[in-house]
Amino acid sequence: MQIQHNISLKPYNTFGIDVKAKQFISINSVEDLKSVYYTEGNSVKFILGGGSNMLLTKDIDALVMHINLKGKQIISQTEEYVFVKANAGENWHEFVLWTIENNFGGLENLSLIPGNVGTSPIQNIGAYGVELKDTFHSCDGLNLETLNIETFTNEECKFDYRNSIFKQDAKGKYIILNVVFKLTRKNHVLHTNYGAITSELERLKISKPTIQDVSKAVISIRQSKLPDPKDIGNSGSFFKNPIITKDAFLNLQDNFPNAPHYTISEKEVKVPAGWLIETAGFKGKTLGNYGVHKKQALVLVNYGGASGNDILKLSKLIQETVLRLFDITIEAEVNII
Ligand code: EPU
Repeated sequence: MQIQHNISLKPYNTFGIDVKAKQFISINSVEDLKSVYYTEGNSVKFILGGGSNMLLTKDIDALVMHINLKGKQIISQTEEYVFVKANAGENWHEFVLWTIENNFGGLENLSLIPGNVGTSPIQNIGAYGVELKDTFHSCDGLNLETLNIETFTNEECKFDYRNSIFKQDAKGKYIILNVVFKLTRKNHVLHTNYGAITSELERLKISKPTIQDVSKAVISIRQSKLPDPKDIGNSGSFFKNPIITKDAFLNLQDNFPNAPHYTISEKEVKVPAGWLIETAGFKGKTLGNYGVHKKQALVLVNYGGASGNDILKLSKLIQETVLRLFDITIEAEVNII
């Protein structure tokens, strides 16, 4: 375990932004993590997971701690369920593939999401009608004040759309060490009613899908719409889909009768930010080496060499334009650093 100095964070963030960390350390065990907190007690620290949900706009004048805790295991099982624990530094998609190879059901719709297991609860990752909270059983977090390990149940995490206690009251107070999932061993409950999955399965001529089929369908949909960070720097959806009042939506419908939407409750409607941004004319817009993805307007991209501030400026222009045209505020989903 060694602290490095002046390290480029380009390989550690999926946007591929080239900023420097004053100090950097890769953490491979909980013991190492605690010992850094004992020995480097006073230094400012910055916790880095998979780097897939952040936009770095400046050098990090701190000790960057890259959480690289590896390992996964079955901790118990019944005839119907299996409890699987994965450590925080496991790559999310590789972990999902492992559960699918073992025929453990529940995570198939969440295939190919970038990032690591340890950061998945923070924003309650979700895709194609499923959210992390649907299979999340519990997680262990290191309390950074006491250095005790505390367990959070599903309820205690207060999951919501792209939100949890780790973005609210517990923000910055814990490092998530591992997550336990409750998955099915048989009678898998498939979620294929999300439009794109149904049509993808039809295209593949699969009428009785398995969890493996659903995972393949999701992978193929994502690959067709979302850029692979290995090829084009990005952080997935840059904005959250705004939830507006029914009255505000009726106003929007006056001018845009075909506005897509999902009813959330009697009083609330969710509008796809991708549609707002596309309608505002930004889809596929390129400003030199960065821009808005041509197949999904919710995704901002770095074609190579863009700065975090370039992308931040573009995101602000998009927010202002959407507000002016639709009177709707869209919030960033990624963390701006
Ligand atoms: N749309 C457009 N233009 C676009 C993109 C979307 O008009 O350029 C409209 C279409 O009407 C489409 C609707 O938006 O029917 C929904 O689009 P899509 O199914 O692609 O989903 P999304 O709402 O844009 C959300 C998540 C994604 C997740 C997909 C699939 C958020 C912020 N994003 O996107 O999550 O993969 O649903 O479930 O909730 C991520 O968080 O990084 C992410 C990629």
